[in-house]
Amino acid sequence: MTDVQKLKDELVSMVEAANDLTSLDTARVNALGKKGKITGLMRTLGGMDPEERKTTGAALNLLKDEIAALIAGQERALKKQVLEQRLATEQMDVSLPIRPQAKGKIHPISQTMEELVTIFASMGFEVAEGPDIEDDWHNFTALNFPVGHPAREMQDTFFLPDDEEAEEGYKKKVLRTHTSAVQVRYMLENKPPIKIISMGRVYRHDYDLTHTPMFHQVEALVIGKDIHMGHLKGCVQDFTQAFFGIKDLPVRFRPSFFPFTEPSAEIDIGCSRKDGGLKIGAGDDWLEIGGSGMVHPNVLTNCGIDPDEYQGFAFGFGIDRMAMLKYGIPDLRTFFDSDVRWLNHYGFDPLDRPNTATGQPAK
Ligand code: PHE
Repeated sequence: MTDVQKLKDELVSMVEAANDLTSLDTARVNALGKKGKITGLMRTLGGMDPEERKTTGAALNLLKDEIAALIAGQERALKKQVLEQRLATEQMDVSLPIRPQAKGKIHPISQTMEELVTIFASMGFEVAEGPDIEDDWHNFTALNFPVGHPAREMQDTFFLPDDEEAEEGYKKKVLRTHTSAVQVRYMLENKPPIKIISMGRVYRHDYDLTHTPMFHQVEALVIGKDIHMGHLKGCVQDFTQAFFGIKDLPVRFRPSFFPFTEPSAEIDIGCSRKDGGLKIGAGDDWLEIGGSGMVHPNVLTNCGIDPDEYQGFAFGFGIDRMAMLKYGIPDLRTFFDSDVRWLNHYGFDPLDRPNTATGQPAK
């Protein structure tokens, strides 16, 4: 008994003397470890007579628990001390201005994409994504482009070498020429009702003041029961008003052709041109901003949706073009020159919010 009491005094003072986590750990090993003091004493139990073994054994077990609790308490206290020290020394002033040397700017395309997501999300759209390297089936065939039909050339496609490892029917690869390919992927994997936008890079070999071989599109797709062109028109109207922040921005639909929509229409918004300048809003002229239409029944069928039960509309815009118009950027090619002076001029501060005051259509 006295041995146990002596050991207890010794261990308690050892634990209490540990003034950091490392020495506390050493104390734990000394007391409770395999070669520790308590374990050592436990080993002597075998040589005692039964009565003594019983009392000493119980006392040792109790001691073990007491020391473990003491160590745990000490550990909590030491950890708290460490944390308090850190909090005291690592203070920071959250009211300090942003590092003056942080000069990065957000590219107008990125800013515009943020705005698009904000507006469409507020209208209940989800964002869908697809690959830049697409196969001919998703980019064309499923979208009702007849095989060998010149409509495929209409999009100045970059054809890639066949991917021999791809599944049969998907070996012919292209750089996607439009975000409409994402519609196909989404419809194959999801059941109506569908309300998505897809955004991203698209590729066509064309290069001049208003065309670059890589540009960005945003495209909306809505599929449901009893969807009609009135919904398409209302949706485009709400969206363009919110994006440009212009109340009653006139929108005009002009008959057109796309293989994947029927009927199809090109979308114009009102503008005025004076002294070589262009102003968006009610005016005496129109500016084309994108394509649209009711999803062709063949496309629905190709994507596993019954066209007798569901209808839908789609529309797509060039994001770069929208950014140019909204922010008065005259030459499309400058977007991709990586000129820091240009970015400083046209770029946005990282903490700028998407410029759609409430995300709601302007009233
Ligand atoms: N995919 C068409 C293009 O790139 C645009 C479009 C999208 C037209 C959706 C109709 C519907 O030209």
